[in-house]
Amino acid sequence: MNKVILKNNPIGFMDSGLGGLSVLREAIRLMPKEDFVYFGDSKNAPYGTKSTDEIVSLTFRAVETLMSYNPKALVIACNTATGAAIGLLREKYKGIPIIGIEPAIKPAVICSQGGRIIVMATPMTIKQKKFLDLLDTYKYEAEIIPVPCPGLMEFVEEGNFNQAVLNEYFDVHLKASLTDNTESIVLGCTHYPFLKKQIENYLENKKINLIDGSKGTSSELKRQLEYKDWLRKDNHIGEIKILNSSKDEGLIHLSKNLIKLSME
Ligand code: DGL
Repeated sequence: MNKVILKNNPIGFMDSGLGGLSVLREAIRLMPKEDFVYFGDSKNAPYGTKSTDEIVSLTFRAVETLMSYNPKALVIACNTATGAAIGLLREKYKGIPIIGIEPAIKPAVICSQGGRIIVMATPMTIKQKKFLDLLDTYKYEAEIIPVPCPGLMEFVEEGNFNQAVLNEYFDVHLKASLTDNTESIVLGCTHYPFLKKQIENYLENKKINLIDGSKGTSSELKRQLEYKDWLRKDNHIGEIKILNSSKDEGLIHLSKNLIKLSME
C-alpha cells in the first residue's frame, strides 16, 4: 500500500451481506466523528456454506472495492471471512490495521459459572482451523458446543424476523443442544445479533446470556487507531456510506433500517 493515510480517511467495513452492520453500529457508537464505508457482498452470500478458496477470493474482491476509498483501517466484520482470509489480507495490505472478528468464546468463558456454552456460527466458521484452535484453547475451561446454523443468515438478508418461522428453525437446529445447564450462547456470525430478540423469545424464561463479538471488535479498532494517532479529533459528524454488490435497492434500505434500529 503506497497511498497516503490521513486522519480524515474513512474506515472500511465488509461482510458477506448485512451482518457486519451489527459491528458497524458499535463502531459508530464508539467513534461518532469517523466516516465509515460499508460493503455488503449480498450478491455472493452466504459465504458460510462455500469453500475456503471461494471465501478468500470473494473477500479479496470486497476489500478491493473498499480500497478505492483509501481507508485508514479495515474491519472484516464477518467471522467466516476472517477465519478464511485475515492472514492473507494482512500480508497484502500492510499499511493499515486490519481487524477481524471471531466467535466471542473468550468473554463467554470469562463470565462462565461452569455451565454449557453454545456457539452458533456458519458451517464454514466451525470447520476452520482458526475456530478449532480457539476451541482447543478453552477446552479445559468450559463445555463448549458448536452449533452450525446453515440458512440462518438468510433470514436477516431477507428482512424476515417472523418469530413463528424462526421458532421452527431453532427447533430443528438449536433445540437438541440446549440443556438445563446452558448458561450462554455465543452469536458467532455477525448476522445473528439482528435475531437476538427472536432467540431470546425462543429461549423464553431460560436464563441464558447471548454474547457477540461486536463490542470487542469495535474497541480493538478504536485502540489500534488511537495507538497510531489516526482518530479524528475535529468536530466532524461521521458519515456512513453503505454499498452492496447486489443490485437490489431494497438491501440498502434494509441496511439503513438495521443501523437505525440498532442505534436506538
Ligand atoms: N456474517 C457472516 C459471519 O459472521 C457470515 C454469513 C454467511 O455469509 O454465511 O460469519
